[in-house]
Parts: sequence; structure tokens; C-alpha cells
Amino acid sequence: MIRIYLKNAAIIVTGASRGIGKEICMFLAKEGSNVVAVSRSKADVVDEINKQGGKALYVKADVSNEVQMENVFVKAKKRFRKVDGLINNAGVLFHKPLDKTTFKEIDLMLNVNIRGTIIGCKLAKKHIKKG
Ligand SMILES: NC(=O)c1ccc[n+]([C@@H]2O[C@H](COP(=O)([O-])OP(=O)(O)OC[C@H]3O[C@@H](n4cnc5c(N)ncnc54)[C@H](OP(=O)(O)O)[C@@H]3O)[C@@H](O)[C@H]2O)c1
Repeated sequence: MIRIYLKNAAIIVTGASRGIGKEICMFLAKEGSNVVAVSRSKADVVDEINKQGGKALYVKADVSNEVQMENVFVKAKKRFRKVDGLINNAGVLFHKPLDKTTFKEIDLMLNVNIRGTIIGCKLAKKHIKKG
């Protein structure tokens, strides 16, 4: 069932420049989805997908910035005429004990992991008609 849904769907994936996000993009492209890859540094996965005959678009954005994320949805709709889904994958983790973690690091985690996810969900509610 999910495979039928993914075919020709336009899906935004945040944190697409490496790691799990990159793999999600490759998976979605293999299932026939149109992929919108989002990260602050270039997502090479877009070139890989397009070279293999899939359809992918890179939009540079910081997920904690609402204006930049609005631009992601606008560009996605311009290219694929719609947005069907959002995968809020971008995240920051500092693997160390709390007493060794600075407030600068804590603020960054909250900003990207919590604020970024909420911004994504708010914009998904605004832009995704059916998905
Ligand atoms: N790997 C694990 O074992 C594990 C376990 C639990 C949870 N997770 C979560 O799963 C997600 C992916 O993990 P991963 O291991 O693939 O992480 P990763 O290799 O560190 O990749 C993180 C991705 O998020 C992007 N990113 C970070 N801050 C961003 C921001 N402000 N705006 C836009 N993009 C941002 C990075 O791209 P740029 O730097 O180019 O922006 C990168 O593409 C994360 O949310 C992580 O917390 C992972």
C-alpha cells in the first residue's frame, strides 16, 4: 500500500546531505517518488538520483529558519506542482554527558531538533493538501 502511495509522490526530506537522510532520499527515489532534499550543505544525493533517471531537487535551508523552510515548500511546489509528504530527519546530537554539554550545544539541539521539527509540521499542514 505504502509503495503505491510513494510512486510519483513529492516528498521533502530534511537532513539529506548525509547519513540516514541521504539513504531515505535514495529509498524514496527507488520507489518512484520525486525527492526534495534539504540541508545547509549540498546534498550530493540529488545528482545521484537525477543521474539514475529519478527526479530530485536540492533546496538549501536551515530547518530552524521558518523563512528558509517556507522557501523549500514554495520551490518544491513550483518544481513538482504539489507536496505530498515531509520527513523531518535533520537533527543534531552531542554524544556526551549532560555536565559536559554546554548551553550553546543544548540551544542548538533544541533549535534544530524541536523548533525545526515544529516549523516543518506547521508548514506541512499549510502546504500539503492530501498526504
Ligand atoms: N544515527 C543514529 O544512530 C541516530 C540515533 C537516534 C537519532 N538519530 C537522528 O536521526 C537523524 C539523522 O541522523 P544521522 O545519523 O543521519 O545524522 P547526521 O549524519 O549527523 O546527519 C544530520 C543531517 O542533518 C542535517 N542538518 C543538521 N542541522 C541542520 C539544520 N539546522 N538545518 C538543516 N539540516 C540540518 C545535516 O546536514 P547539514 O549539516 O548539511 O545541514 C545532515 O544532513 C537525526 O535527527 C538524528 O538525531 C540518529
